[in-house]
Amino acid sequence: MSVPEENKDSSTVEAPVAKKKGVPEGVGKLIPVYVMGKRYEVPETLTIMKAMEYAGFKFIRGCGCRGGICGACATVYRRAGDYRLRVGLACQTVVEPNMYLTQIPFYPANRASCDFSQLTSSPEEIFKLYPELFRCIACNLCTKACPMDVEVMDYIAALKQGNIARAATLSFNCIQCGLCASRCMGELPQYHIAQLARRIYGSKIAPQAEHLVEVAAAGSSGKYDAYLEALMKMSEEELRRLYQEREMEPEIAPEDWVPNNKEYL
Ligand code: SF4
Ligand code: SF4
Ligand code: FES
Repeated sequence: MSVPEENKDSSTVEAPVAKKKGVPEGVGKLIPVYVMGKRYEVPETLTIMKAMEYAGFKFIRGCGCRGGICGACATVYRRAGDYRLRVGLACQTVVEPNMYLTQIPFYPANRASCDFSQLTSSPEEIFKLYPELFRCIACNLCTKACPMDVEVMDYIAALKQGNIARAATLSFNCIQCGLCASRCMGELPQYHIAQLARRIYGSKIAPQAEHLVEVAAAGSSGKYDAYLEALMKMSEEELRRLYQEREMEPEIAPEDWVPNNKEYL
């Protein structure tokens, strides 16, 4: 595949410049996969993302965290001879022999614009901005497509019932990959609707966290000014050292855990 110069910013990947030779140790045997219709042989243990890089593709878009949380690498694929179109994240899905795949790092789903500060916490706000919410026919294809196991149809149903809090909770793990919208029979932009619901919930419905209110007030009163100024004067090396040596909350910590240094609490 060649990529026209004027299209480069919007393309997912750069085409391979040279096919790699030899198989690195420990990656298994080579299997055929078809990337955008062209056949490549790639190690069977690699994810789609690594396999494409192995084949010589260079990611320009469609790649972010490489850890399954940024939602940038949505991929559509079909197994040879299988009627079913499958979806997944390129950084998490391992290649299979004879899979046909392409990436859709951006899905053209309608995203309503609004002045968020003027919105109330009423579900009517969401109904007005996203009337297509009521086009949902409860087919559940969205839930089946979701790589994060989000109960997409259920959060849409919660919103139709005006339950913003439930929709915010159910959609909490959404990574905005757009795969649900790509399969939707009702043409809903589920993830944009849910994002609005979470924002409304977070800013207008959920009770304020007292400790955050205190920290924000301390910040406004200048408590951290000297510390921030000192940080801004540090060299990159000093900042790196400070970051690496920072005290971190243990993975399993009691509810009342606090750091030893309480100077900035
Ligand atoms: S809800 Fe939709 S956009 Fe969010 S992670 Fe699932 S498939 Fe992706
Ligand atoms: S795919 Fe669309 S129509 Fe089907 S349940 Fe999900 S939101 Fe509703
Ligand atoms: S690169 Fe972030 S989810 Fe795949």
